[in-house]
Amino acid sequence: MSDESPATRPPARTAAVIPAAGRGVRLGPGAPKALRALNGTPMLIHAIRAMAASRAVSLVIVVAPSDGAAEVKALLAEHTLPERTDYLVVPGGESRQESVKAGLDVLPPGIDTVLVHDAARPLVPVDTVDGVIEAVRAGAPAVVPALPLADTVKEVEPAATPGDPEPVVATPARARLRAVQTPQGFDRDLLVRAHETVTDNVTDDASMVEQLGLPVVVVPGHEEAFKVTRPLDLVLAEAVLARRRANDGF
Ligand code: C5P
Repeated sequence: MSDESPATRPPARTAAVIPAAGRGVRLGPGAPKALRALNGTPMLIHAIRAMAASRAVSLVIVVAPSDGAAEVKALLAEHTLPERTDYLVVPGGESRQESVKAGLDVLPPGIDTVLVHDAARPLVPVDTVDGVIEAVRAGAPAVVPALPLADTVKEVEPAATPGDPEPVVATPARARLRAVQTPQGFDRDLLVRAHETVTDNVTDDASMVEQLGLPVVVVPGHEEAFKVTRPLDLVLAEAVLARRRANDGF
């Protein structure tokens, strides 16, 4: 019997990389965004729990602010996290891309699926996480959760001075647009290759795979996977947590 027979092949293993090294200036002054509290618990801990909630995720790699790795390790020690999952903390880089790369650099052997999840999306439901993992395991090398848009989107010529009127260049058909969330899921080797090859500044990992000319597919996202960016998002996140607590009967 070969090593690749279903009986002897090691089970597929998934790791989640959480870039949490951003400063989050749009939320105003205070702690780095990922360390801001939501209902008394740092946003980053919520995001880690959201990844570890999936039974498929065996390792969570947290990418901390470059001078904040010790603080993040202390946070992980302070909070209850699922014990079946392993946790690693590494220092991040100047850009989101460099931070994700720092996480990929410490992936152990045996991991074949990698999720990349923004710390700024602390409330993504486990069903969304599992949906992304299942799509990768079913053979899609790059998978992003996404939602249709409520707003019509205009492409503009950005004004040199913020606040000045901006000429509209185009109006893409809304029905063909999707707002992309995380976790994004990848075949490990493909994501590592994308990070070694693409040097342009990008805002998500899937676009690096697109730049390699390889297919990326979209699966349904979730409204609770929104990104906590502005002060109003903190209010919304606390409301979602309150509703969950009420539904759980606590
Ligand atoms: O700035 P933005 O909201 O796009 O950041 C998305 C995610 O990337 C956040 O979770 C942030 O902490 C992370 N990030 C990072 N390293 C950077 C910049 C952003 O890990 N240098």
